[in-house]
Amino acid sequence: MLSTKPNYSSNPLLIQAANNAIARRIDRERSDAVLMAQRAGITPDVWQSDLLRSDARQVILNCSRQSGKSTISAVLAVHEAIYTGGSLVLLLSPSLRQSQELFRKIKDIYNALESPAMPKPIEESALRLELDNGSRIVALPGTEQTVRGFSNVALLICDEAATCEDALFFSIKPMLAVSGGRIILLSTPRGKRGFFHSVWMDGQDWNRTLITARECPRISEQWLEREKEAMPSFWFRQEFECEFVETMDSVFSFDEVQAALSDTLEPFSFDGDLT
Ligand SMILES: Nc1ncnc2c1ncn2[C@@H]1O[C@H](COP(=O)(O)OP(=O)(O)OP(=O)(O)O)[C@@H](O)[C@H]1O
Ligand SMILES: [Mg+2]
Repeated sequence: MLSTKPNYSSNPLLIQAANNAIARRIDRERSDAVLMAQRAGITPDVWQSDLLRSDARQVILNCSRQSGKSTISAVLAVHEAIYTGGSLVLLLSPSLRQSQELFRKIKDIYNALESPAMPKPIEESALRLELDNGSRIVALPGTEQTVRGFSNVALLICDEAATCEDALFFSIKPMLAVSGGRIILLSTPRGKRGFFHSVWMDGQDWNRTLITARECPRISEQWLEREKEAMPSFWFRQEFECEFVETMDSVFSFDEVQAALSDTLEPFSFDGDLT
C-alpha cells in the first residue's frame, strides 16, 4: 500500500532546511554556552549563566557546598571541547576519585547533547574523552607530577581547589602563561591558607564569584537553619557562608600573624657561637 505521508528524507529542500536549522543552532550555542546547557537539561542559575557568558581568563569561584559549581564548570568543559576543535581541557582535583566524579558530570552533559552534528568520541575511558574534532578532556588527580608534560591547555578546571597542593598551582601557572589558556579555580574555603585563599584575597586580574548557600535556589532557608543548629559555627560559616575561617591546627590566627609582621624591623641575624 502506498503511504500518503510526505517523505521528508528524500525532499532536498526539506533536508536543506533541516541542515540550515542545525547550523543556526550550532552558531548560537557556540557563542552562548547557556543555550547548550539548556539543551543538556540544565537551566543555569543567574551566577552560572554569568560564568558561562564570561570571557575572563582567570576565574575563582568561592561557592557554598552543593551550589552547583562543579556542574557549571562541567558545562564549560563540554562547550570548550565541542565548539573549539583541537582544544585540551584538563580537570584537576585533590584525588583521582574526585576527578572521576567531575568527569562523570561531563560525560552526562555530553551524552545529553546527543545530535548528528556533534563531534563524535574517538576514544573514551573513565578519565578521558577524545573527540573527532581533535579536542580532548582529561581528568587527573591534581598533583604537580601528573600535570607535568601537558602543554597547550585551553581550559584548566581545578575543583576543590582549597584542598589541592600549592605545588600544583605553581606548576600550572607557567603552563597556562605559555598556552594563553583559561583557568577556573572552584572550591568551598578550607581555612586561611593555600593558593585558593591567597588568590581569593590578593590575586591580581582574577574574576571573583562568591555564592553562599542562601543564594542557591535549591537550598532552603529552613534546611540551612537546621544545619546551623546541628554543626559547629565555624564549620557552618565555612561550608555554607564561604568564609575563610582559621584552620583548627593554627597556634596563631592568620590575622595575628599579619598584624605581627613589620616592614621597619631588620631581620635578626646571629654571628656568635652557640656552643
Ligand atoms: N542550575 C541547576 N539547576 C538544577 N540543578 C542544579 C543546577 N546546578 C547544579 N544542580 C544540581 O545541584 C546538585 C549540586 O551540584 P554540584 O555537584 O555541581 O555542586 P557543588 O557546588 O560542586 O557541590 P559540592 O560542594 O558538594 O562539590 C547536583 O545534583 C546538580 O545536578
Ligand atoms: Mg563539586
